[in-house]
Amino acid sequence: MATKESIKQERLPRHIAVIMDGNGRWAKKRGNQRIFGHKNGVKSVRETVEASAELGVNYLTLYAFSRENWNRPDREIDALMNLLISTIDTETKTLMDNDIKLLTIGNVEGLPQKVQDKVAEVKAKTAQNQGLKLVLALNYSGRWELQEALRRYGEDVKNQRVDNGPHQPDLEQYLTTAQIPDPDLLIRTSGEARLSNFLLWQLAYTELYFTEVLWPDFRKENLYEAILNYQTRERRFGKTSEQVVRNKTKNNAPQYG
Ligand code: FPP
Repeated sequence: MATKESIKQERLPRHIAVIMDGNGRWAKKRGNQRIFGHKNGVKSVRETVEASAELGVNYLTLYAFSRENWNRPDREIDALMNLLISTIDTETKTLMDNDIKLLTIGNVEGLPQKVQDKVAEVKAKTAQNQGLKLVLALNYSGRWELQEALRRYGEDVKNQRVDNGPHQPDLEQYLTTAQIPDPDLLIRTSGEARLSNFLLWQLAYTELYFTEVLWPDFRKENLYEAILNYQTRERRFGKTSEQVVRNKTKNNAPQYG
């Protein structure tokens, strides 16, 4: 069983992103409705947030609701929205106790007003916290984000707010993740090995980790296991292995850039 102690602090991922998958199948296996799986997924959210904060991870991004999730049955969408509100509400104390700051990416304005209000309230309440940044991807999709970024860039060019020279546009500042470093590690649960429109730009050099564990069964030890696996990877960013080994700093820090 993976333990916290076996994790090398100097090679900790700064940013972990998670596609929490398998809630529906977890519930079905138990002869229950899909929402039963989502409700049981909240414990996994709490464990993952707590473990990330305890380890000293800087950013944790959770894919809580995609734009494609609007295609689910109304009943499931309503239940998910209520679960988001109640979870954010009941977990506010944990966020405050652990100095965690809540951030969001995605089109939050497209969510029901009651969700927007709860998110705004807890973002304001945790705004001064200095520890882990918990980023909820809400009404998010990678293609939407890129389309939005290009649209806003085009407007800035039209209004001469940016120089439309022959250089590559600095698209990153137009993404909803503008202030957030790219993920070092992406975890997807439930045995599916795809990105599902998540952070398409930001995952360019991210290490991908897929586990068979269904999200409601995901515990701190599963996070440790993913991080330990990440720590065995050689991140090359297009360089050769020899270059990476030669450039390694004496404290074995990962090479970024
Ligand atoms: C995917 O499983 C999971 C979701 C679409 C929702 C995840 C949301 C929660 C666990 C609530 C968390 C709340 C906060 C505040 C982060 P699925 O339904 O696609 O599972 P399946 O593939 O087995 O059908």
